[in-house]
Amino acid sequence: MQNTTLHIHPSFAISPVDERVFGGFLEHLGRAVYQGVYEPDSPHADEQGCRTDVLEALRRLKFTAMRYPGGNFVSGYDWVDGVGPRDERPTKVDLAWQSLEPNQFGTNEFMDLCRKMDWTPMMAVNLGTGTPAEARNWLEYCNGKAGSYWADKRVEHGYADPHDIRLWCLGNEMDGPWQIGHVPAQEYAIRAQQTARLMKMFDPSVELVACGSCATTLPSYLEWDRTVLEYLHKDVEYISLHSYVGNEKDDTEDYLCVGNAIDKQIEELDSVCSYVAARKRAKRKVKLSFDEWNVWYRARTGDHVDGHNKLAPHLLEEVYNLEDALVVAQFLNSFIRHADSVKIANLAQIVNVIAPILTLGDKMILQSIFYPIEMMAKRREGIALQTRIEGPKVHSKTHGDAAGVDASAILNGKNLSVFLVNRSLDKEVDVLVDVAGGKVVKRIDGEIVTGSDPKAANGFEDQSLVVSNCYDEICFTEGRAVINLPPLSFFAGTLELSL
Ligand code: AHR
Repeated sequence: MQNTTLHIHPSFAISPVDERVFGGFLEHLGRAVYQGVYEPDSPHADEQGCRTDVLEALRRLKFTAMRYPGGNFVSGYDWVDGVGPRDERPTKVDLAWQSLEPNQFGTNEFMDLCRKMDWTPMMAVNLGTGTPAEARNWLEYCNGKAGSYWADKRVEHGYADPHDIRLWCLGNEMDGPWQIGHVPAQEYAIRAQQTARLMKMFDPSVELVACGSCATTLPSYLEWDRTVLEYLHKDVEYISLHSYVGNEKDDTEDYLCVGNAIDKQIEELDSVCSYVAARKRAKRKVKLSFDEWNVWYRARTGDHVDGHNKLAPHLLEEVYNLEDALVVAQFLNSFIRHADSVKIANLAQIVNVIAPILTLGDKMILQSIFYPIEMMAKRREGIALQTRIEGPKVHSKTHGDAAGVDASAILNGKNLSVFLVNRSLDKEVDVLVDVAGGKVVKRIDGEIVTGSDPKAANGFEDQSLVVSNCYDEICFTEGRAVINLPPLSFFAGTLELSL
């Protein structure tokens, strides 16, 4: 047994948690759209062809900003193919995933889904093969009032009212050599600036996300971001970063310290934003949109993924285990710890493709990573507080010294939610929650995901191996709480304070 103290002070606020940090990502890739959210032939299909079993599960994750339609897919996508009468829409070859795209699901179907699910649409425009004018036309199609060409097309397609989409990404991963239309930073920045200016001339209320570095391993890391921001700092509200992590070395102890790398990546990009704002003597600093993040390494074959020119091929169908769930919790903890800079974050992705939900025929399962997201999403409202962990550390070969317990905290009135990952493979930890200037009065609720085998994973035969359970191993002493964390566990719970 180890002892650790979580020090919290209600006045040491970081920032309110932006609910868009609990966003998702739906790409035309593999079976994410077709056989994922949309399958008109399924016995689960609703009147719009969406799978109700999948949507019901997704509802539990309370996603906010939903990024669409890609991803690498968007860099070769013509949005016009996906609107208008379905039987007139073309089937095209998607070069990003070497698949066939039937275009039966497009802008309007996505917007219907957003309305059904209460998601905030976050569209990505094509800056690979696409032009600034095509992006501006799409914006007019979506947001224009009837009376002009593209807005009238939308009305003709059955949508009299504008969709009113506020959040737009200026391309996807344009720094990646694999990206269709990849160009050097300066060229992207000029293209993105022209697009941003056209879009804001049409609709000044839109918020824009520039492509930042999508991997810390690329040679252009951060230099790309500096160049892009030098051009775009006045034109965009956010710059993106992406991260996919994995246990390639099969070293669980090391893998479970990956939270350090997530913190580092956020802080490094935020420093570039500060640097450019200072150089420009700007009052406003560009904020961060962590618009792709997840564990992804098993169902990965380098830069080239081949869908063999099929409709809805099985691609990127990662199967997640307990250790992955503990890493997913660390991503979310890191976003909360950086609530002042990270304003948007999108789990990549939501169904079938590197996702918390898998379908197979009429069946559906919840993967291990479903649970930490659900546990945190339901407690996300409030102000992120600084946390200080005092206790034994873990030494990781890759990530240096990491706290034995990875933590974040959110205060909502008198309710304090704490999120704790016990990184140890074999030791229980008692975490003393010490709230300076206040007392912990009682437990409101608590849940845990844990198990003895880090490789345990849910499957279609048994989906009960990694799940969340109600947890009340909490005792109270002199205005403080002690939460007992088993090895390999993630706890999320809410405590009532008297302040
Ligand atoms: O999410 C899968 C892919 O990962 C996305 O299409 C791309 O943006 C990233 O490389």
